[in-house]
Amino acid sequence: MKSVWHVGRPQERDFPPLYKDEQVDVAVIGAGITGLSTALLLAEGGKRVAVVEAGRVGGGATGNSTGNLYANPGSSLSTIRRKWSDEVAHTVVAARRAGIDLIEESAKRFNIDCQFTRRPWYLCAPPDEPEYAAQVEKEYEACRIAGLPVHLERGAPVSVATGEVLRIDDQAQFNPLRYTQGLAVAVEAAGGKIYEESRVISIDTDQGVVETNRARLHAEHIVHATHTPKGISVLQAEMMVYREYGISARLREGGYPEGSFWLLGQAFHSVRSYHVDGQDYLVVVGEKHKTGQGTEVEVHYENLRGFVRRHFAVDSFEHAWSAQQFQPADQLPYIGRAPLAPRSYVATGFKADGLVWGATAGIVISDLILGRDERWGGLFSPQRFTPLKSAKQLLQENLAVAEHFVKDYLGGAKGGIEELRNGEGRVVSLEGEKLAVYRDENGRLSVLSAVCPHMKCVVHWNADDRQWECPCHGSRFATDGRILDGPALEPLEQRAPRQ
Ligand SMILES: Cc1cc2nc3c(=O)[nH]c(=O)nc-3n(C[C@H](O)[C@H](O)[C@H](O)COP(=O)(O)OP(=O)(O)OC[C@H]3O[C@@H](n4cnc5c(N)ncnc54)[C@H](O)[C@@H]3O)c2cc1C
Ligand code: FES
Repeated sequence: MKSVWHVGRPQERDFPPLYKDEQVDVAVIGAGITGLSTALLLAEGGKRVAVVEAGRVGGGATGNSTGNLYANPGSSLSTIRRKWSDEVAHTVVAARRAGIDLIEESAKRFNIDCQFTRRPWYLCAPPDEPEYAAQVEKEYEACRIAGLPVHLERGAPVSVATGEVLRIDDQAQFNPLRYTQGLAVAVEAAGGKIYEESRVISIDTDQGVVETNRARLHAEHIVHATHTPKGISVLQAEMMVYREYGISARLREGGYPEGSFWLLGQAFHSVRSYHVDGQDYLVVVGEKHKTGQGTEVEVHYENLRGFVRRHFAVDSFEHAWSAQQFQPADQLPYIGRAPLAPRSYVATGFKADGLVWGATAGIVISDLILGRDERWGGLFSPQRFTPLKSAKQLLQENLAVAEHFVKDYLGGAKGGIEELRNGEGRVVSLEGEKLAVYRDENGRLSVLSAVCPHMKCVVHWNADDRQWECPCHGSRFATDGRILDGPALEPLEQRAPRQ
């Protein structure tokens, strides 16, 4: 399902696939906000750059986000302050401010029609809930110390009851898909190349070769701008993977809230409005859960619709979509030189704050490749080792992965292939092998190995998106085994179809 960001004047154009081998200085894998911000700065810095994208420009997490830009990292600046220091909190805010400024400047410079607007950002506790009020106060203190224009007040200008509220002025909103599409055009104008429908299937870091489904890039530097690094990376063990859902609605009597509202509570919601070409939309995001551990997708959407109906006069619901986020163990993103892979660079661990981190990553990685001084003191280096700050999450994450590994291998497969209805998928055990079996609408079976090629967890069936999903590090596969998302570089292996 498409996100609301497809509404509005498209600055979209088609870029060809990579048909023949090419020699470049930098190969960027992934055309989301991270890849394109990096590519633009490198092309303007005189490097020969090519971006290879498996799908369409902006079609990953970027085009399925909420489009809010804020200098604090969501509601976690107080945790960063506690785990790291006031100085680190200050540096994080400075780096994120630079990311927002880069987006604003690029939108203006390239005349990108992405509705970039400065707006306040709010963190709201529900009324009479001291625990959430205390959280808001802690964030207020952290933001104040980090030098943000922050206010603590009661009640926010949104038709959801709120108590203690933190307001940060001069933050921003935009349409992330249209921005990225505009950025792609700017990359090309600066001499860079963009190749769509070009999935990377293997990477040889030592030889500097990036192989796509049709041709190869030979490059001195390789940037993994794929939201989570491709292949097996130590970073994957340090991140939790979550899925989150978004919907848009049109309201009967106006009352669209102006600003970005993060509404704390038992169920977290992020709310904003989007105005384009005389049309207004309310955008609501929430229902976060660990990948592979949610309920039926339609239930998540219905919960969001229920929230909107309770608080707004709804005329119609328009869009519904979902995306993944990767949460780092020690609260800071990983941006810079990849561990154990010279001349490779990664940008990941962005949580739900990665539009800004993506732009910041463009600055950090292009500086490294262009041989400029590293800004922000290498704070986000993926080579950092922070066992004390990461311990709790690392333990949780690796236990969760181990739990899936054991549980999914030992059991889980209920019922046989014969009972599968049309449009249904199921993992079954056959002669000691786990198989991912799907029966299409015409009754034809596709039979794949259920073992994720990334690190051998067993995939789960996602009934609503009709996809196979790996609960360990978030790889997703189509019913024919093709990779849709995540760190896996190979498809699910085909097994003979049994009719
Ligand atoms: C529901 C939700 C709402 C969010 N809202 C916000 C928000 O309001 N503000 C904010 O700052 N952040 C937000 N985020 C986070 C933000 O969307 C992401 O962190 C950010 O978009 C990541 O950008 P990216 O360029 O790194 O990754 P992506 O946009 O995912 O781009 C990666 C690209 O790599 C491509 N790719 C993958 N594998 C291959 C391959 N093998 N070969 C070639 N290409 C490949 C993909 O197709 C994709 O286009 C949200 C996240 C979620 C889940
Ligand atoms: S095992 Fe890592 S994504 Fe599947």
